[in-house]
This record gives sequence, C-alpha cells and structure tokens, in this order.
Amino acid sequence: MTLEQTQKRIKELTASINQHNYNYYVLSNPTISDFDFDMLLEELQKLELEFPQFADENSPTKRVGGSITKNFETVKHNYPMLSLSNSYSREEIADFENRIKKLIDGEIEYVCELKYDGVAIGITYKNGKLFRAVTRGDGVQGDNITENVKTIRSIPLQLNGDFPEEFEIRGEIFMPHKVFEQLNKEKEEIGEQLYANARNTASGTIKMQDSAVVAQRKLDSYLYFVLGENLPFTTHLEAINKAKAWGFKVPLEENNFIKKCNSIDEIFEFINYWDTARHQLDFDIDGVVIKVNSYNKQQELGMTAKSPKWAIAYKFKAEQVKTKLLEITYQVGRTGAITPVANLQPVLLAGTTVKRASLHNADQIEKLDIRVNDIVLVEKGGEIIPKIVGVEATQRDIFSQPTQYIKNCPECNTALIRTEGDAKHFCPNEWGCPPQIKGKIAHFISRKAMNIDGLGEETIDLLVDKNLIKNSADLYNLRFEQLFNLEGFKDKKVQNILDGLVQSKQIPFERVLYAIGIRFVGETVAKKLAKHFKSLENIRKASFEELIAADEIGEKIAESILLFFENESNKEVIAKLEQVGLNFSLSEDQLANTSNKLEGLTFVVSGVFTLFSRDELKDSIEKNGGKVSSSISKKTSYIVAGENMGPSKLQKAQELGVKIIDENAFLAMV
Ligand code: IVH
Repeated sequence: MTLEQTQKRIKELTASINQHNYNYYVLSNPTISDFDFDMLLEELQKLELEFPQFADENSPTKRVGGSITKNFETVKHNYPMLSLSNSYSREEIADFENRIKKLIDGEIEYVCELKYDGVAIGITYKNGKLFRAVTRGDGVQGDNITENVKTIRSIPLQLNGDFPEEFEIRGEIFMPHKVFEQLNKEKEEIGEQLYANARNTASGTIKMQDSAVVAQRKLDSYLYFVLGENLPFTTHLEAINKAKAWGFKVPLEENNFIKKCNSIDEIFEFINYWDTARHQLDFDIDGVVIKVNSYNKQQELGMTAKSPKWAIAYKFKAEQVKTKLLEITYQVGRTGAITPVANLQPVLLAGTTVKRASLHNADQIEKLDIRVNDIVLVEKGGEIIPKIVGVEATQRDIFSQPTQYIKNCPECNTALIRTEGDAKHFCPNEWGCPPQIKGKIAHFISRKAMNIDGLGEETIDLLVDKNLIKNSADLYNLRFEQLFNLEGFKDKKVQNILDGLVQSKQIPFERVLYAIGIRFVGETVAKKLAKHFKSLENIRKASFEELIAADEIGEKIAESILLFFENESNKEVIAKLEQVGLNFSLSEDQLANTSNKLEGLTFVVSGVFTLFSRDELKDSIEKNGGKVSSSISKKTSYIVAGENMGPSKLQKAQELGVKIIDENAFLAMV
C-alpha cells in the first residue's frame, strides 16, 4: 500500500467501526458479527501503530483506553451547569404548570422525560469531533475526564450529518444494572466488599486514573441537552432529534423515554406510567423531568439563581411497604462472611414480590432493634436489594425479646469470630464449612481462573455434597466411574470434564495464582504478582517488605498473602496442585518477555520513568522486536516520554509530528 492508500484505508476503517459501534451501542442493532468487528479493529490498530502520523486522536481504537490521568485538570464550564428545582407531589407539578400559564400567553407544549440517576457530564464537540468532557463539579467548574469518556461506546467520537461547528451536549453517564451486578459478582468471588449501588459505582468509575479499567466497566449514557450559539433549532424536542441524527444516544419517543405533552393530564399520565415501569429498566431513574418545549418560551421564562423556571423535576419516592418479619436466617458466603437475612411475609414492592431483605450485620439489627414477628418497613431505593428501614415498635407483642445474634456457624457449627473493624461475623472453618469449600472450588474453575470446560457451580455443589471432592486439587483425582455413576452424567459429559481438567494444566501462571483464591488477590493483582515474583515459590518466600515493594501491592494484600501461606490446609492443596502439574511459574516465553509486537517500529526514549529504568525500557523495546534510536527523525515511530523530557526533543517531535506516548501507553503496546 502507498502512504496515500494507507491513509485512505485508515479513514475507511475508522468510519466503518464508528458506524458499527453506533449500530450496536446506540441503536442496539448490530449488522456485523463480533468476530468481523474485531478484525476491523485489529486492522486499524495495526495500521495506526505502523503509521502513527495518520492516527486520529478520536480513533475508535481509543475505546479500549490505556491512558493514565494522575490529576484531572479543572476546567470552567462554558455555560454554568444548573440544577433543577425538585418536587415530590403532583400539587407542586400543578403549581408549576399554573405559574407558567400565568407568565406565557397561548398554548404551551411540554416535554416529559426520564430523570437519569447517574453522573452529569458536559461534552464539547468541535468540527464534529469529541473535544472535551467535563464533570459537573460545583456547577461553575468541573474535572476534565475526556479520556475516560472516550471509552464509553454510546458516546460518539466523530459526528455525522449537519452538526454545528461547536456546541456542548449534556447528559448523564450511568452503569447498567447488568454490568453492576456482574462487577459485584466478581467482587464477591475475591471476597471484597460489594458496591452499594450503581450510581456511586458509575461516579467512582468515571474518575478512575486508568482509562483501560473504565473501558472494561461498560458505562453507558443518555444525552438530553444541547447548548451553543445560534443553534439550528427552536424547540427542545427538535434538538433531541438532531442530536440523535448526529449519532448521540438520546431518549426516544418510541420507548416513551421522552414525550410531548399538551396538558397537565398528559404530564401526570407520563409520571404514573414511569412510577411503575421504572422497575423494568436496566438503569436507575429517580424521577421525571418536565420541560417547556419552545426555546423562545424558555427564554421568556428565564432563570432563578440556581435553576431554570422552564423546567421541574418530579422525584419518585423510594417505595416502602409494611410487612411481617417471619424469621431471621443467616447465610454463609464463600469467604465465610455471615449475612443475616430477613424472611418476610411476601409483599409487592417496586414491581416485584419481596420475600427477603438483607439485614447487613449484627449492628444493623441492634440499631433498629429488629425482632421476629415485628411489623417492619421495607424500602427499595437505588439499592438492588430491599432493606428494612424501620420497625413498628408500638405494634409489638409485649412478650417479644430482642434478637440474639447467632454465635455459631449455621452450616458447620464452628464458633463465629468478629475481627475489629469488620462489620460482619465470620466462620473461620475455611476448609470444613460446605459453602466455603464450594465457593473456593467454584472460584477455582471459573472462567477467568482455570476455566474448566464442562464444570459449573452446580456440578461442584454435587461433587462436594457426594463427598467426592473437598478442595480444588481433588478435582484432578476424579475418575471416570466416579462421575459416570452420578445421576445425569453420560459418557460425553464425563469425558468433557476430564479433558477440561487435563487442558487446564496449560493455563498460565498468573491465572493459576488468581484461581487459588488468596483473599484480595483479584485478576489484576495476580498479574502484577506473577510479573514481579515470577513463581509461586518466590511469592511464598517473600517477606512483608518484599511483597509491598511490588507494584500496586499494598499492606492489606501483603498481609493476606502471608496469612494464606501460613495455613496448613492451603499448603496441602497447593502442594497437590503443583504435583498435578499446574503452572506455578512464568513460562520461558513470559520470562524472556519476547514478542514481535513492535516489529518495524523505531523508538526514542526520553525523560525519567516510574515503572522502568531507562535501560529496562530500551531492553523491553528490543525484546519485543522494536528498534531504539537516540535521535528523533522522520523514521521515529514513537517517543516514549517520561518526566522532564528535554524541550528541544519535544520541539523536534512536534515539528515532525512524531507521536509521544507515556510509559503506560508503551506497556499497553507490549
Ligand atoms: S435537564 C438546566 N434532563 O438532574 C437543567 N437533567 O437535579 C438541565 N438530570 O443537572 C438539566 N436527567 O444532572 C435534565 N432528563 C434530564 C435529566 C437531568 C437527569 C440531572 C442533571 C441535572 C440534575 C438536576
């Protein structure tokens, strides 16, 4: 390909990938297989790497993230980010409508839409390209989180059609329930405290330093407000429809997410509909927003100091019901954590029948003085699991006694412990308590760990219940007849499991390390540990100081690793797993860290780095097939820049248009 052809191909690929992203993430209507999509993306990635001079700052390859923002720059909003006046009753909505009727002559059109309970964002586009994304902050200035926002696939990087030269669009970023639940499932697997709700998780995610992690979190967006000078529309609804044509994910009339209303009755109809239908959405809303449609009328109505007079939010009440607490039971989690559960007289709440509610821990029961047979107040707010928020103490039987928290594990009868600082009680019988045994093995076989074909959690439960296995190492001793004798296990299924176990011996060390289930050692930590220590033996031998000297290993993780290797049962299982032949150290290739990923590329290294010494960086370039050069020329593909890169180098790089990357971006390349 000539340079010209290459540039053309990069443009074609970019346009095509952008369109497919739009089809998938905005229209929910993909027209290409995942595989074909990945091929296009891979081709673009390769070309951009080889011809960085043609790589666009807003290329769809940015969606995977990789840049690190240490401190988010504070920027002033072009237009202050106002809030809405809130209302909680229909009367207040009627007052709002009456006020407007008095101020404005003639018919008034309203637009009702959902009030998204996410994180507010203002995104500026210049010449159709995403230029900057800023959080609300204090309304006057916010944080520049552009790189993180670029990873959100429903937010276009490049617009289509007749967009204004420059404008800002505002909306909300949120985490879909499905993503939130999956994330919590993963947290549970590694024994970490769960996130409380999707909103806070979205808000924490969008401010993370590593945009690659943000990309994995699969945030989504709805945009609902266009601002700028001389915009080509006269009503809010027109603006929304235009924004849709440019490529934004906006509320659609066909989903009833937005509706033109000509009377107060139609407004109430919209509110009533969503007061119940909201429970079926895959994201949180906390109300409905009512806006005057016409921009002229909006201007006529004007503002108060804090909010526009042409709009109002109607907030839904967190739904509450009363019901009877029948029994308190106690669940033992995979890590041995005890969760008290309220078993309730079934009651309809927020669109579903609620039979159980979490009571969190002993303190919560004591604080609310919750007792069996009480009439309790159950609420479902932003949290997914309903909670008990109060007790009707006056309706209580005079013989009622305060709840005695259990002292022994309901599964294995071991005395429970409660460590200082922990809200929860724990069962310490890690290797003898059935849910803990099952949990450990289920984690071991899970997709991101050993990923053993044919084995699922149900089979693990069955194998533990039948006493065929007590730990993950026992899996490798299972014999054909043992499995074949189980109900529903045919030839093919049994062989599949046994083959899966054999294949799992190829799983690389970092995943084995994750699979053995050290508390707080998730996927990422396992990778860092594997890279730093290279073998399980080295990790086992490491002192506290040596552990915390490794990248991203804090005191909590180090303590947990030491505790893990002190435990006799852990030692036994580890020894058996090693005997079976699992990978307990990095492979030759991993050790040599060789690849041809940088073939054909020339690098100049400048400045001081935090992750590498300069020599290590050069070494890594060469081991991955790249060339290192000391001076910048037209042939330089990349400059890897650390702190204090020389000003003359910087100037030369800019003159020649050579791409400058930091050490994290380099790491992502190899
Ligand atoms: S309009 C000048 N529409 O709620 C008013 N805001 O409490 C511009 N919000 O600041 C905002 N959904 O962060 C508008 N459909 C919607 C909304 C919405 C959620 C947020 C937004 C706003 C806050 C006010």
